[in-house]
Amino acid sequence: MADVVKNVDSERLARILPEAIRAIHQVIESHGVTEEEWMAVLGFLTEVGKQDEFVLLSDVTKTSVLVDAISHEGETDVTPSDVEGPLYRENPPWREKPVKIYEEYEGAQKGDVLFVSGRVTSADGSPLSGAVLDIWQTGPDGGYDIWDERQPEYNFRGRFGVDEDGGYEFQTMVPKPYTIPTDGPAGRLLEASGQHPWRPAHIHFKVEAEGHELLVTQVFFPDDPYLDDDTIGAVKSSLIRPLTRHESEEESARRGLEAPFYTCEFDIALKPAMSAARA
Ligand SMILES: [Fe+2]
Repeated sequence: MADVVKNVDSERLARILPEAIRAIHQVIESHGVTEEEWMAVLGFLTEVGKQDEFVLLSDVTKTSVLVDAISHEGETDVTPSDVEGPLYRENPPWREKPVKIYEEYEGAQKGDVLFVSGRVTSADGSPLSGAVLDIWQTGPDGGYDIWDERQPEYNFRGRFGVDEDGGYEFQTMVPKPYTIPTDGPAGRLLEASGQHPWRPAHIHFKVEAEGHELLVTQVFFPDDPYLDDDTIGAVKSSLIRPLTRHESEEESARRGLEAPFYTCEFDIALKPAMSAARA
């Protein structure tokens, strides 16, 4: 095979690129891929680009979880990372205390209120009072704000700070399992390969604090039917947190609620930017 890379400045690119191209060539050769089939592949990738689904394609082929695992291999004493996915939106609103990341809307009644709380610390347990959390999740039905026209802009999204001791709490609603978009090329790939499009319910977190690496992760809940069969394979057992149901009318009234609610605890430990492990 002719050289596929010449005079590349980056040593790493010079090592990886020829191997990646060779891997594609080998698959084409060993299966005798035809011109028609190859043009279909190129058409598929063109559509992935046009519909902005490359992150989704990376997710459903479980490439994102592989890269996440390699990037964070051997990390201990810190909260495990998880893939970001394609549904983060830049510049979500800043939410003041008491933090509530959604507005009431038609459809919210179908869900259960949830208070998530915890502490943000460094790997050694010292509180990070300057930490900022950035949360995004689906509503109790209808999915993300961008798919659900009943929901206000940036609903179930928000950024906020923590207390002096690193403590935080925010009010949201218990998310539900949902399907990734199935009307585009990533959905067609799932269908063609006999895979369902469901993800277990989860809440996405991005947590930043000075002197620490950015943490991107997700929290899952027990007894979800898709915990063992996430279409992007992103569930880590160490990120499953129980939901506690509170039935007391007094407790609900104290929270300004008329129905039972749930709580969930999620403490977050961040990795120092210049950790001993890295040094
Ligand atoms: Fe999600």
